[in-house]
Amino acid sequence: MKLSRILSNQNGVSRKQANGLLAAGLVQVDGTPCSEPAQEVSRFSTVTCQGHIVQAGAVAHYLMLYKPAGILSATTDTTHSTVMDLIDTSHYPELHIAGRLDRASTGLMLLTNDGQWSRTLTEPDSEKPKVYRVTTAYEFSPDTVDRFAAGIWFEYEQLTTRPATLEPLSGRVAKLTLYEGRYHQIKRMFHAVGNRVVALHREQIGDIELDHTLAPGDYRTLTQQEIDSVNQV
Ligand code: URA
Repeated sequence: MKLSRILSNQNGVSRKQANGLLAAGLVQVDGTPCSEPAQEVSRFSTVTCQGHIVQAGAVAHYLMLYKPAGILSATTDTTHSTVMDLIDTSHYPELHIAGRLDRASTGLMLLTNDGQWSRTLTEPDSEKPKVYRVTTAYEFSPDTVDRFAAGIWFEYEQLTTRPATLEPLSGRVAKLTLYEGRYHQIKRMFHAVGNRVVALHREQIGDIELDHTLAPGDYRTLTQQEIDSVNQV
């Protein structure tokens, strides 16, 4: 929200008065003086005017969860357990998921209440690498690496997937790096080359790697470095 709007949302303060307070240098955002009415201020910032709190910054939460198989990537569901059932939501309220996994898939899942942060991470053009370990029903055909690198045509979206890197570790297990995240993307890519995914585990999103000390179902808060890595280009 714009800073002048935050100020004028207080009882009895007009937009004109808000701009006057700003021009007089009486307003601070997170402790830094600010005089720009149009400055966008997030709900996580604290705004003060002459030492009085106008907006108390909300607490931002950033978690990584080791998603076990069989748990739904959703905030609520009437029939299945969801990832939220694994988290103490009284400590971490209003979380949403930054990048879903299929119910059978395992591994790194990020949750936050910071919509701007999760959008930066998951928007289709973010080009942040997502690294998976995939196991397939059949051995990789000789052309799979090249076909994934060239991109696979998705009829429904009418697009070709971005070049993806498949690094076979054995006949049916590979490390796969994608630079986008489309609906059931990996299953559909393997289906297109006549194969089938039997296990899928996400190891990394952008610069954030699944913490190897976490067991399935465990979670921890992100470090400041992990949080900041999302906004670095
Ligand atoms: N692609 C899939 O097909 N499934 C996932 O869980 C993630 C990516």
